[in-house]
Amino acid sequence: MTITVHFVTAPVGGSFEQYDVAAKPGMSLMQAAVNANLEGIAADCGGAMTCATCHVHVDEPWRARVPPAKAGELDMLQFTAEPADDGSRLSCQIVLTQELDGLTVRLPARQY
Ligand code: FES
Repeated sequence: MTITVHFVTAPVGGSFEQYDVAAKPGMSLMQAAVNANLEGIAADCGGAMTCATCHVHVDEPWRARVPPAKAGELDMLQFTAEPADDGSRLSCQIVLTQELDGLTVRLPARQY
């Protein structure tokens, strides 16, 4: 069974693109992006939570449905290239579930 997650690019010149990515529950949001060769998620550490280059902004309606960040993730969110906001997460720490079918996140303008 697969779900679909949506990545919206940072606006360039006022326009943006949305990428719809198929994913399997159990994988991380970062893995789904990397498997789809999505630009905008660097994920240099491969999910070890040491790089902060897998930063995403979770869309407002989804924030309450994604399990909250743990302390280690909150610490790393201080090191994102684009300043973190209330919706910021490390995509390697979001484990996809059936309930997250349709999850929409925005990509930051930069990961470095
Ligand atoms: S992939 Fe490095 S912190 Fe997420």
